[in-house]
Amino acid sequence: LDTASRNDLQHHHGGRPDRDFARLSVEPTPVIDFSVNLNPLGCPEIVRRSWSELMEGIDRYPSLEGEGIARYLRERLELGEDQVLGANGSTEMIYLVPRALGLRRAAVVSPCYHDYYRASVLAGAEVRRLFLSPETGFRPLSSETLSSALADADALWLGNPNNPTGTFLPREVLWDLAERFPEKWLIIDEAFMSFDEAWREESLAVPPLLPNVIVIHSLTKFYGLAGLRLGGVTGSPDAIERIRRIKEPWTVNSVSEALAPLLLACAGYDRETRTFVAEQRSRLTAALEGVKGLEVFPSRANFLLCRWDREPDLDRLLRRLLARGICVRDCRNFPGLEAGYFRVAVRAPEDNDRLVEELAKGGG
Ligand SMILES: Cc1ncc(COP(=O)(O)O)c(C=O)c1O
Repeated sequence: LDTASRNDLQHHHGGRPDRDFARLSVEPTPVIDFSVNLNPLGCPEIVRRSWSELMEGIDRYPSLEGEGIARYLRERLELGEDQVLGANGSTEMIYLVPRALGLRRAAVVSPCYHDYYRASVLAGAEVRRLFLSPETGFRPLSSETLSSALADADALWLGNPNNPTGTFLPREVLWDLAERFPEKWLIIDEAFMSFDEAWREESLAVPPLLPNVIVIHSLTKFYGLAGLRLGGVTGSPDAIERIRRIKEPWTVNSVSEALAPLLLACAGYDRETRTFVAEQRSRLTAALEGVKGLEVFPSRANFLLCRWDREPDLDRLLRRLLARGICVRDCRNFPGLEAGYFRVAVRAPEDNDRLVEELAKGGG
């Protein structure tokens, strides 16, 4: 592998404060972890309450295809059996979809979650990046730009909202694009869509579905269940059948499978999460805007992309934050974000206040 492709295939994930402590030579201490974008309320109460019941099935094989998660997606989105598949986190589908579709040329709206790129390369596709621009505050690309990229590719990958920029495209824009290119695929990662108060109006997974739109879902962020791995995919019966044909058996464990339908009864938690995130995001954005040398970008998700230009070396800030018990996601390994970018999750108000207080002091 040449250097470029080796870098394409490396894992680029946050949520590893241990690595940051080692790289920056800081003595490890407990941290408030702003580098992972999980629900700040923690997982729903029903997970703990049902734990011993959930354990009862572990001596049996789960369903072949993750039926429990498929049921959750069917009922929540009011879709048919042939429009849904459950998965071991959205990650399973990010990797399966480009293989199932036989992608040869993919366009990826960037900076973005690295695995769209990695999965497409591993499926044998050539990948072209379409860059959102810091000059526009990472605002969505125009329909014309997206159209001309699609004209030259067989699929477009897009996070909506996009990680790490928080960029959001309205449903009607994507709908229109998909209709104008019926022979091309739109692969939309809605891992963070459930945090949005308007998710039902904005999701491309709410019927009617378009034949060439595939939506990837994650339950791990919204329900704070990253360790249990729950996700899935929705799309037209033809698209789902192509994915089903190559899906490995038993990827969804029996605990996740039994838990997923219980999450349908968490409407109160769902509402509370959305209100909490919307309120805390605007409060945190306003506070970060007041920090000298920090640029904060508008976000429609439960995280905020920031740029540090008070001092040239972001490491100085990261080292000092770690020493003070705060871990943020260094974004300099995202193509397009090399110049001092980092991302923070929206957390509880007292955590967010600590972050702002420490950022105000700078790298020292
Ligand atoms: C945009 C995005 N999509 C998908 C994933 C993978 O999530 P999971 O496999 O836990 O559903 C992540 C994880 O960070 C993410 O940020």
